[in-house]
Amino acid sequence: KEVVGVGLIGYGTVGSGVVRILHEHKEKMERETGCDVVVKKIVVRDKEKERSYPLHGAQLTTCIEDILEDTSIHVVVEVMGGTEEAKEYILRAFEAKKHVVTANKDLLAMHGEELLNAAARNGSDLYYEASVAGGIPILRGLVDGLASDRIQKVMGIVNGTTNYMLTKMTEEGVSYEGVLREAQALGFAESDPTADVDGLDAARKMVILATLGFSMKVAFEDVDVKGIRHVTQKDLQLASQLGYVMKLIGTAEEKDGAVSISVAPTLIPKSHPLAGVRNEYNAVYVYGEAVGQTMFYGPGAGQLPTATAVVSDIVTVVKHMRLGTTGKAMSFASRSKVLQDDSN
Ligand code: NDP
Ligand code: HSE
Repeated sequence: KEVVGVGLIGYGTVGSGVVRILHEHKEKMERETGCDVVVKKIVVRDKEKERSYPLHGAQLTTCIEDILEDTSIHVVVEVMGGTEEAKEYILRAFEAKKHVVTANKDLLAMHGEELLNAAARNGSDLYYEASVAGGIPILRGLVDGLASDRIQKVMGIVNGTTNYMLTKMTEEGVSYEGVLREAQALGFAESDPTADVDGLDAARKMVILATLGFSMKVAFEDVDVKGIRHVTQKDLQLASQLGYVMKLIGTAEEKDGAVSISVAPTLIPKSHPLAGVRNEYNAVYVYGEAVGQTMFYGPGAGQLPTATAVVSDIVTVVKHMRLGTTGKAMSFASRSKVLQDDSN
């Protein structure tokens, strides 16, 4: 069997989930790809740190060159987070003619176009399904599944940490600080949870959804963002007495060529489907001119849901490698190239 080598950058919540799924779903991977997909090397900050999941033969290193210079590694999976260093590593991976899968929404929202163009220049694939709504295949759904429709609006819950916090604060009266620590321990929160509670993580995801949904350039600075930092138990109790629950809702709408995007704590009637989206689950409504209203629902954060999306992207890349169509797919991976072509 042909071996496809994978190099991981990061072995935290998501990275260890990727190794776990590749190991536990080995047969399924072979059936899907016709190849033996093997994690060969993993870059981390601290090689001596105790790891919660076995490495299954992969070699730990602190040196990115170990992956970039290894010609038996075809796919680089960036799950370390952050922007500048991650961007540099991904650009260098393209230069080394490797394909990249990432879960990094900060990076995509900030430098998505540059990265996708660099991928295209090098004939590489860049996939990032896990960057929005964890285990929900929303990017494929939006771009491929609804390719024939004109998207008018995307709206929903796209941050698992804050939804977990609001759920527990409402239903169990848990304190803000206590439940934030819980969400961190469960691996839902960002390494700096400010991004979650201040709505920045949701805003970055809305930028990605709007860019893909409306085929337009959208900047993070254009998003009107409010988080949940100032939401109190009293607010939630009062809302409940009046028949509402509070959710952090992201909305992106296109009207007459102009896009408006916002993220804000919003009161939702208890009878609305979004009110029933609990804990770390996410739900995204997509409104299309022809299809009407669709809803995508599922786990929006956490190890295995997120790793499922990452590994599914690896499967897509390996399929393209075998077909000789890497860097050419008309899917969310190449949307920015389409945008660029349109503007010429
Ligand atoms: P973690 O903090 O759990 O893991 C980060 C990993 O990256 C660690 O193994 C760390 O090494 C390594 N790392 C960090 N900085 C560097 C560096 N400069 N050089 C080398 N290695 C480095 O993060 P997560 O797994 O939770 O998240 C990873 C990415 O996935 C982020 O972009 C996040 O936004 C995204 N994501 C996370 C989800 C989740 O539910 N957790 C869901 C969707 C996306 P060491 O172990 O030695 O410290
Ligand atoms: N911190 C993010 C969240 C991880 O809670 O939604 C998933 O993107």
